[in-house]
Amino acid sequence: MRASSISYPVAILAVLVGMLWGIVMAATHDHQAMPAHAHLNLLGWVSLFLFGLFYQVHPAIDRGHLALLQVLVWIIGTVIMTIGVALVHTGSPASGEPLASIGSIIVVIGMLLFGWIVMRR
Ligand code: HEM
Repeated sequence: MRASSISYPVAILAVLVGMLWGIVMAATHDHQAMPAHAHLNLLGWVSLFLFGLFYQVHPAIDRGHLALLQVLVWIIGTVIMTIGVALVHTGSPASGEPLASIGSIIVVIGMLLFGWIVMRR
């Protein structure tokens, strides 16, 4: 399975959830969860779509296990971090902070992996 065939659909799903979340925030005039909305959109949509573009123009890397691992690590980190940031900003910091911390470490690992993949090309 190619990494870009995972990153594109998940990026689309992330931005659809992110946009719905934005509409709900706007409609309810409750912007508390704004940092989580922003992180979901920027990590889950923008970054993941950019990974897909990079992998698509490098088909040999796209077919490799390392690229697939990188995309999966990024998706897991993004989901955990978004939930954690949302909890922190909506009144549950005790449960949100550990998740936000773990999620942020996972996305850093995902970016280090991506950096490695780009540099050794
Ligand atoms: C239907 C689409 C969207 C809606 C209705 C929406 C709605 C909102 C709302 C209500 C806020 C809070 C603004 C505030 O409290 O000052 C916000 C903030 C934000 N949104 Fe969205 N959003 C949408 C899509 C996106 C997308 C696609 C991205 C990124 C690619 C994005 C990135 C951000 C960022 C970075 C912030 C924080 C801005 C700041 O710090 O002032 N949003 N959005």
